[in-house]
Amino acid sequence: KAIRLQDYRPPAHRIDRVDLHVDLGEDVTTVRAVLAIRRNPDRADAGTEALTLDGQRLVLRSVAVDGRTLDAADYTLTPDHLILTDTPDAFTLETVVEIKPQENTALEGLYKSSGNFCTQCEAEGFRKITYFLDRPDVMAVYSTTITGDKARYPVLLSNGNLADSGDLADGRHWARWEDPFPKPCYLFALVAGTLVHGEERFRTASGRDVTLRIYVEPGNEDKIGHAMRSLVKSMRWDEEVYGLEYDLDIFNIVAVGDFNMGAMENKSLNVFNTKYILAKPETATDLDFQNIEAVVAHEYFHNWTGNRVTCRDWFQLSLKEGLTVFRDQEFSADMNSRAVKRIADVQGLRTVQFQEDAGAMAHPVRPDSYVEINNFYTPTVYNKGAEVIRMIHTLLGAENYRKGIDLYFARHDGQAVTCDDFVAAMADASGVDLSQFQLWYRQAGTPELAVTGRHDPATATYRLTIRQTVPPTPGQPTKQPMHIPVVVGLLGPDGADLPLRLEGEAAAAGTSRILHVTAESQTFTFQDVAARPVPSLLRGFSAPVKLTSDLSDADLTFLMAHDSDAFNRWEAGQILGGRILLGLVADQQAGRALVLPDSYVDAVAAVLADADRDPAFAAQALVLPTEAYLGTQMAVIDPDAIHTVREFARKTLATALRADWLAAHRRNVTPGAFSVDAAAIGKRALKNLCLAYLMAAEDAEALGLCLGQYHGATGMTDVIAALQFLSNSPAAEREEAIADFYNRWKAEPLVVDKWFSVQAMSHRADALARVRALLDHPAFEIRNPNKVYALIGGFANGNPVRFHAAGGEGYRFLADQVLRLDPMNPQVASRLMGPFSRLRRYDAARQALMKAELERIVGTTGLSSDVYEIASKSLEAA
Ligand code: ARG
Ligand code: ZN
Repeated sequence: KAIRLQDYRPPAHRIDRVDLHVDLGEDVTTVRAVLAIRRNPDRADAGTEALTLDGQRLVLRSVAVDGRTLDAADYTLTPDHLILTDTPDAFTLETVVEIKPQENTALEGLYKSSGNFCTQCEAEGFRKITYFLDRPDVMAVYSTTITGDKARYPVLLSNGNLADSGDLADGRHWARWEDPFPKPCYLFALVAGTLVHGEERFRTASGRDVTLRIYVEPGNEDKIGHAMRSLVKSMRWDEEVYGLEYDLDIFNIVAVGDFNMGAMENKSLNVFNTKYILAKPETATDLDFQNIEAVVAHEYFHNWTGNRVTCRDWFQLSLKEGLTVFRDQEFSADMNSRAVKRIADVQGLRTVQFQEDAGAMAHPVRPDSYVEINNFYTPTVYNKGAEVIRMIHTLLGAENYRKGIDLYFARHDGQAVTCDDFVAAMADASGVDLSQFQLWYRQAGTPELAVTGRHDPATATYRLTIRQTVPPTPGQPTKQPMHIPVVVGLLGPDGADLPLRLEGEAAAAGTSRILHVTAESQTFTFQDVAARPVPSLLRGFSAPVKLTSDLSDADLTFLMAHDSDAFNRWEAGQILGGRILLGLVADQQAGRALVLPDSYVDAVAAVLADADRDPAFAAQALVLPTEAYLGTQMAVIDPDAIHTVREFARKTLATALRADWLAAHRRNVTPGAFSVDAAAIGKRALKNLCLAYLMAAEDAEALGLCLGQYHGATGMTDVIAALQFLSNSPAAEREEAIADFYNRWKAEPLVVDKWFSVQAMSHRADALARVRALLDHPAFEIRNPNKVYALIGGFANGNPVRFHAAGGEGYRFLADQVLRLDPMNPQVASRLMGPFSRLRRYDAARQALMKAELERIVGTTGLSSDVYEIASKSLEAA
C-alpha cells in the first residue's frame, strides 16, 4: 500500500501533447482526450513495458490507437488503470470517457460548486477526469475545448490563452483554450458557469500587458478589490525581489464556495476557496484581509516556483511548497510589519508543526513514504519546509541566495526536479557547503538545543555552550547532528548590542552573528566582553528548534525591554510567561494554591505601558502563550490544568491591571471611517486584546463595553471579537447576541462560518452539546468543507479543554463525524484526524479512550486510504 521514494523510476512513456474535449452535461459529462505518446528515451531499460494509464471512476466509452478503435480484448481495464500492451514507439491515443461531476462530493477532479463546474487536480485528481499518466514528471502542452449550455455556463475557462470560441445549435456554445507551457496534469483546470468578474491591467517590467481577472458568483462583486490589489502587489514584488515576470497575456482567478483546501495554482487559472478572495470590512476581519493578501501571493508565486519548475514526484512536494511559503511570508513581511509577521508565523509553526513533529504522523520535510499523498499537504512540508528555505537564505545571505535562485531557474526551467536539485543550485551558486544541512530534508522531529552561558571577567570572555539532540520519530529511532544556524547577539549592561569578536578573529564584526551548530556539543567563545552580558539567542527564530537556556527571569525581563531584535523581545516575554504558567500547572496538579508572581504582573504592565509605540507588536506581546503551545512544552499534556491555569492568569492580570487595560482600550478605539491600513489594524488588535482581558474579569463595565462594541462596530474584526468574548461569558446577553449575529449575517456564508466556529470554540461547559445541535442548523452543510472546518474542526482543534473532556465524549463525537464524512469526502474527513494522531502525548486514560475510537475507525469497512493511513499510523505509534 505504501509508495516509497526509493522506488522512484522515470516513466516508461512520455506524453507531449494533450487535446481535451470536454462536453459538459447535466447528467453526464463526456471527456475525449487525444494524447501524443512516445516511449521515454531515458528509460532504455523499460523495453516494451506496457502503458499503464491512471483512471478512477471513469466510464470508458472507446479507445483508439492512431485512429484505429480497439476491442475490449486489446486492453486491460481495472478500477484504477487502463493498460495497453504492444503499442508503437510513438502514437496517438484517443479515449472517450463519461463522468458525473454533479455527484462528485470528494471535490477532487471535475465537480460542481453552486451549480458551476470547477476542478481540483492536485495531487491526483486528473485521473478522475480522463485516463492519463497522473504523475508530475509527465509534462505536456495542452489544448482544452469546452462545450456547454450557454445560458447555464456563459463563462468557459481553462489554462492558457483563449484561442477560439463560438455558438452551437440548441443554446450551446464552446471555447478552446491553449496553454503553450508544458505542464504536469495536476496544474490542469477547467471552470464553467455563471460568474461575474473584476478586471485590472498589469504591465510587466519588460512591457508585457497582462489582463487580470477575478471571477466570483454574482452578488460578490463588491468583495474582490482587496484580492485584486494583492495580486498586483505580488506581481510587482516578484519582479523586484526575484526578477520573475508573468509569462502569459492573461491571469485568471476563480473563487468557489466548495473547496477542500485554501487555493490552487493551476497555470493562469488559479482556483480559490472564497475564504481567501472575498473581503470587505463589514464581512471580513483584519486577519482575513491579511490571509487573502498572503494566499493570493502564494498562488501567484507558484507560477515560477511550482509551475515553470515543478516536482519530479510527490515526495518533493516541499520543493514548491516550502519555497513558495517562504516567498509569501517575505512578501507579507515587506508589505506589513516584518516583526509582527514573523511572530505570527513562528506561533503557527510552534503550535501546529511542532505538534505534528511530536505525533504519529511525524515525517521529514521530504517524506520517504506515504499511503495517501493528500495526507502530506502538512505543516511540516509547508511551514517547516519554509523554515528550511529561510535557513538557506540566512546561511547564504540575500545576495548569494538570489544567485542561487537565478541558477536554479537557469538550470531547471521547464523541468520536474527534486529538493536535491534545488539545494545543489544554492550550494553551487554560493560556494556554501550544504551537505550536512541537507539532513533537514531527511530527518523528522524538532531538534532541541540546550544553551548555557559563562562569563569570565578575568579574561573578558563569554562562552556559549550549545548541545543539540534530535528526538526519535516513527521509523527514525536514531538521528545525526544537524547543521543549525543560531543567530545570536550579546546585550551589554546598558541594553545595547555589543560588537562581536569570536575566538581566533582579529576584529569584531557585527552585533548579530550566525553560530554554526553542527555537532552534538559545541562552545563558542566571545572576546572583549568586560561585563556579564545577556545573550539574545536564536534571533528572528533563525532555526525551527526548541531552545532552552539558563537565562534567569531577570535576564528575560531585561531582553523584553532592550533586545534590538523585535522578535526576541516578544520571545523573551513568551519564555517568561511559559515558564510561569507551566510552574502554575505543576502547582495545580499538586493541589497547591495558584499565585501569579508580582514580578510577572509588573513585566506585563511595563509592556502595556509602552504599547502605544507599536500597538500591533504589543498585542502579540501581551497574549499569554496559547494552551496548545503550553501543551507542547509538557511531557504529558494536561488540558484541564492548562486551561484552568491560563484562565486564572488572565483573570489575575485583568483584575490587577484593570485601570491600565481600560485606559489602553480607550486610547486605541479608532473613531471615524473604518480602514484596514496597518496602523488601524494594530490599534484594533490592541484594543480587542484589552477588551479580552477586561472581559476575563467578568464585571459589568466590561460587559457594557463589549455589548457596545458588538452593537456599534462597523467592521467584522470588532463585531466578531465582541461576539467571541460574549460566547465565553456567563452573561445572559450572550444568547441574544448569538441569535442576533446569525440573523444579521445569514446571507453571507463566510460570516456564518465565523458564527459556527465562535460557538465551537467557546470554553463554556455546554460547547459540545451546542456543536451537536448546530449540526442540524439549517445553515450547516456537511458537504461544504468550510462549514465542517468551522464547526467540527473548530471544536476538535480550537477547543482543547472541551474536546479532551475526561469522559471521552469529544473523541466519540469526532470519530462519528469522521466516519460520516469519509464516504463523501475523504480529504476533509482525514484533515479532522489531527488530534487523534497526537494521542500518545496524553495520559493513559485519554490514550485508551482515543485508541478505542481509532480502533472503531480502522475496523470500518470501505474506509478511504486517507483516513486509514492516519488512523492506522496513530494506533501503531500508540
Ligand atoms: N498547491 C496548493 C497550494 O499550495 C494546495 C493544493 C493541495 N490540494 C490537495 N487536495 N492536496 O496552495
Ligand atoms: Zn502552495
